[in-house]
Amino acid sequence: MKHFLEISLLSKTDMESLLQRAFHFKHHKAYPKYPHITVAPLFYENSTRTRVSFELAAQRLHMEVVHLNVQTSSEQKGESILDTIHTLAAMDIQLFIIRHGQDGLPKALAEQCPGIHIVNGGDGMHAHPSQAMLDVMTIFEQKSNIPDLKIAIVGDILHSRVAKSLQCAFSTWGVGELVLVAPPIWQPAKAHYGRITASLEEGLTDADVVICLRVQKERLLADDLYDLQRYRQEYAITTQTLAVAKPDVMIMHPGPMNRGLEIDAQVADGPRSFILQQVQNGVFMRMAILEALVQGF
Ligand code: CP
Repeated sequence: MKHFLEISLLSKTDMESLLQRAFHFKHHKAYPKYPHITVAPLFYENSTRTRVSFELAAQRLHMEVVHLNVQTSSEQKGESILDTIHTLAAMDIQLFIIRHGQDGLPKALAEQCPGIHIVNGGDGMHAHPSQAMLDVMTIFEQKSNIPDLKIAIVGDILHSRVAKSLQCAFSTWGVGELVLVAPPIWQPAKAHYGRITASLEEGLTDADVVICLRVQKERLLADDLYDLQRYRQEYAITTQTLAVAKPDVMIMHPGPMNRGLEIDAQVADGPRSFILQQVQNGVFMRMAILEALVQGF
């Protein structure tokens, strides 16, 4: 694997290899060492989980991590991101993790920079492939009957890069029933995989897994599109709305959460919540991704 850009570019075998390696790292703490590899996370959007877990993953594999603050880099003097990457590559940095608001930018950079590895750490509304892989890992850890599962993804399906990458991943794995729950204005014209509904009850009924998406308040403020109180009334994941789900339903959220808006604290911190397991698995999955880039599958 040269780059890690989007789930649709991975075969089922590629995904199986990543999962197998991530579980291996989780259960065997003796990690291989790649001290000749230098990694630069370039984050043009805010992040806690993705950034820290990729940095930890690199450090656990004994890779060197270079911290460039893009807000104080020479890009502020007009240097392009492409020139920034060429400049860092000239210093023998081989692997770049890029989070950016522009859809497709990591892929475009990968096409223009053949000598390095690029990881998509989340691009605009397009893709968040490492999040999808760690989510699949977290589900596989609990449930083995993937073709029998009903999974509901609830929230702003239209603008969510996580929802897009998850649809690709669940399509590859043949998840039995995928329901995308959103108010009509946040529904895409067509699902890549699964069916779309505006009914939270329909989505949650007999669900084995519920993935609650973050309400992107920063985007709503700009677009002024949806009343948050109404969203809470109609789509919040609460003890009451979950009553129709399976008793052993898994509750997941990619984070960061808006407690009291899209999810109640009682649910987020409750016995069916796997939100912190997602975060924990993220480090192991990202170790597997980094290793696959430098070693191949
Ligand atoms: N899930 C996720 O991408 O979280 P961060 O924005 O904190 O990286």
